[in-house]
Amino acid sequence: MNLLITGVSSGLGHGLAQVYLDQGATVYGISRRVPEDLTARGLIHLSLDLNGDPNAPNRFKNWLIGMNSFACVFLNAGKLGEIRDMKDTPMEDLRETMEINVWSNKWILDALFSEDRTVKQVVAISSGASITGHRGWNGYSISKAALNVLIKLYAGERTETHFCSLAPGLIDSAMQDYLTSLPPDDRYQPLEILRKAKGTEKMPDGETCARMIVEALPKLREKESGGYADIRKL
Ligand SMILES: NC(=O)c1ccc[n+]([C@@H]2O[C@H](COP(=O)([O-])OP(=O)(O)OC[C@H]3O[C@@H](n4cnc5c(N)ncnc54)[C@H](OP(=O)(O)O)[C@@H]3O)[C@@H](O)[C@H]2O)c1
Repeated sequence: MNLLITGVSSGLGHGLAQVYLDQGATVYGISRRVPEDLTARGLIHLSLDLNGDPNAPNRFKNWLIGMNSFACVFLNAGKLGEIRDMKDTPMEDLRETMEINVWSNKWILDALFSEDRTVKQVVAISSGASITGHRGWNGYSISKAALNVLIKLYAGERTETHFCSLAPGLIDSAMQDYLTSLPPDDRYQPLEILRKAKGTEKMPDGETCARMIVEALPKLREKESGGYADIRKL
């Protein structure tokens, strides 16, 4: 069984790779940093910057040559950015967030579906922020809402593949280290909830969350392709 995971160097992506390597699957992963603990266990890794490197789409396409099928592709790489108001968020930062969280997934999917490759399932890691649009989550919320629609559009074009956007719940990762280290700020209400969840079972580590997602895959496939789901509500 072949799997592809983007953002494999930390957090949820790293956890997903661990779970599948434990199962003896063939795991392909991309990120800028090389997760040496995983490559030592057989992860096939490509160092790639998803932030607008003009060579990245071709490097990815060439890397895929010879890989004919994937049981599941996890579009997991993501950038949070700083929690701040829209008016204080530079355009440059918004463009970068859209490039990593949305547009890179477009060329990744286009490369995957070239050369008659078969892909059984695509899970795009979204976020509750794609729906809530809480103050402060600026480009991240916009990008995850756009990701949900991107996935719906591809589902309409690629009916032989099952697609979903999945909010994974809270994960104790680098993103949450940043969020829970911010000073209390009445403008950004969810920060208090996140601080309270850190260190509890409400915020599992990447590997624990990955196990829940892998178990949920068959259930996701029962839903209409292209939809949004939240793992906490399955
Ligand atoms: N943590 C949460 O509570 C939470 C909640 C809801 C949704 N999510 C979503 O879950 C996914 C995983 O997040 P996480 O919490 O595991 O975050 P994380 O630990 O910060 O991991 C992010 C991953 O994305 C990769 N990445 C970021 N920028 C990249 C770039 N320019 N090029 C290539 N790869 C890049 C990173 O690899 P390199 O830095 O090595 O490139 C890393 O492997 C994200 O899509 C996130 O939005 C997380």
